[in-house]
Amino acid sequence: MALQRLDKIIASTGRWSRREVKNLVRQGRVLVDGVPARSAEDKADPETADIAVNGESITYRRYTWVMLNKPAGYLSATEDGRGPTVLDLLPPELRRQNLFPVGRLDKDTEGLLLLTNEGGLAHELLSPRHHVDKVYYARTAGRLTEEDCRAFASGMTLDDGLACLPAGLEILSAGEESEAYVTLREGKFHQVKRMLAQRGKPVVYLERVRMGNLPLDPALARGKYRFLTAEEVQNLRKPQ
Ligand code: URA
Repeated sequence: MALQRLDKIIASTGRWSRREVKNLVRQGRVLVDGVPARSAEDKADPETADIAVNGESITYRRYTWVMLNKPAGYLSATEDGRGPTVLDLLPPELRRQNLFPVGRLDKDTEGLLLLTNEGGLAHELLSPRHHVDKVYYARTAGRLTEEDCRAFASGMTLDDGLACLPAGLEILSAGEESEAYVTLREGKFHQVKRMLAQRGKPVVYLERVRMGNLPLDPALARGKYRFLTAEEVQNLRKPQ
């Protein structure tokens, strides 16, 4: 791989800003193959050099992948004058990495949102051609029935003309308020809400719980993020 500046390589971990790397180098706390770096601008091959910060070898990430447990009240955008965005939930060193949300969750929708700066794979995860299921936990006003499940499975056409691909509806509980998992291969604007509204069972709460083979990490509190592991990113690359 091409040589890159140490500050860029180390900042890619999301743990230190470039300015912090400069200070660490000055303090002799950055070693390249066991030798203290002289300048944050020194270059190294991130795939072959052993780069250690404070005695700990760092793993270079070409792209950054972050799982966020989105709370209600945040927009899935990088900038928006209308209110806080999901980027506001990340620390400054991550915000500097040009991350963008992989698809959108509505402002009031919670749960699994991926953010990355790897455009190609992000695009694949969203394209219906790649068959990546997105699974939502929905609570609705009104009793869900087997007829609703059949309507979802047959591919609904909404009153506004939107033709939906066949989708999954698994009822978890049915009553005055019902609960279900909804599985979609696509992600049209407000799609889950529109499909359930058309069945006369408007959504009162929505949370995304899975994308393809990646579930929302139950240990991740609402509003918190973590990096995806190399294995999780590898799994996203596999056909789902
Ligand atoms: N469908 C919706 O209606 N809203 C979301 O946020 C995601 C899917």
